[in-house]
Amino acid sequence: MEKEAMGGVLRNLDCVLDNPAQLRTPERLLIYTLVTAFKPRVALEIGSAEGGSALLTCAAMDDNGFGRMVCVDPEFRFSDAVWERVKHRVTRVQGFSPEALGEAARVVHPERFDFAFIDGDHTFEGVQRDIRGVLPLLADRALLLFHDSHHPPVRAGIDDIIEGGSGDLIDLGEMSVEQTMLTAQDGTEIWGGLRAARFVRGRTIAAGAATNEVCDENSRAAMNTLIRRGSEKIAELQKANESLWRDLQSMREGFDERGQRIAELESRFAESWAEWQAARKNYEAEIARLLAGFEERGARVRELEAHGAKLWDEMTQLSREFDLRGAHVRQLEEHALKIWDELKQLGREFDLRGERVKELDAELARVTAELNGGRKR
Ligand SMILES: C[S@@+](CC[C@H](N)C(=O)[O-])C[C@H]1O[C@@H](n2cnc3c(N)ncnc32)[C@H](O)[C@@H]1O
Repeated sequence: MEKEAMGGVLRNLDCVLDNPAQLRTPERLLIYTLVTAFKPRVALEIGSAEGGSALLTCAAMDDNGFGRMVCVDPEFRFSDAVWERVKHRVTRVQGFSPEALGEAARVVHPERFDFAFIDGDHTFEGVQRDIRGVLPLLADRALLLFHDSHHPPVRAGIDDIIEGGSGDLIDLGEMSVEQTMLTAQDGTEIWGGLRAARFVRGRTIAAGAATNEVCDENSRAAMNTLIRRGSEKIAELQKANESLWRDLQSMREGFDERGQRIAELESRFAESWAEWQAARKNYEAEIARLLAGFEERGARVRELEAHGAKLWDEMTQLSREFDLRGAHVRQLEEHALKIWDELKQLGREFDLRGERVKELDAELARVTAELNGGRKR
């Protein structure tokens, strides 16, 4: 839908999705369109947390072109981005309601709050304290909106005040039916829900009559248009929501597996870490022990070094003697070689003479034989 075609309203509808509110989408849409339609001048919020609901109210006030807001919370957690988007309309009063409400009233004095969103202390007593604290600060016909009105203690707290009260507060009932189921220590808890009430000072009147007085025909038509557009947007958002839910489910399957794997790795890491710690302790003890022995060994090493130097001197001396003896050995070797050469020469001469002796032997035998033969004849 073109923003221009909306006639200037719902310009900031984007803030319904781009928002850190702890609210369901129809609840966000309802607050945004309600502020756009009801056009409060001075709004009070009890319980702002990350500033999501304050952002919805401010965005609608921006559409309206006017409006101021006071937020009360003991612990604001607005991001810089959210604060940048609301700071031109919002004053933050840090503290617990109802004690901090006096300060909130001073901020807007002499005006009174014509819209109050209560989402702070969700106990029976807490809600009652907030309502009783807020009533004196309200302008006549102010609109009150409670979040988590399905949460049993909150519902009972509101019921109790409306039923037992003076009639200043007219119950407009539950504006949303969706519940948020949260797992708590002792079972499942029901949360969520927006419930509205009208403050009409000092009069006991029916809700319808009060509504007729503030809504003339034009604003009723405008509101109907807003509601129709809001419903269309809700249907659109619902579809987007369903598709997101499906995506989320499929992502979740992988995510669970990975979560298990991470848990496994974490436990393995813890084991390795313990092993590493133990090893490190041993290692440190070992180093300490070695360091202690190091000095002792250092003295022994120095002793051995001195002994080594002495041995080295002795060895050098022996080596010198060895060299001298080596020269003598080489002289003897040369002499021996000479003798060997002479010996070989004598051997050769001996061999030649041996041959001659054999020849003479043979000659002698032949002459002897001849001599003996001549005698016999
Ligand atoms: C559920 S969160 C509000 C969520 C917010 N309205 C949103 O939709 O974005 C409730 C907040 O109420 C505040 N709180 C609790 N007790 C409070 C008290 N007595 N007065 C004011 N704020 C209170 C908490 O600090 C917390 O930030």
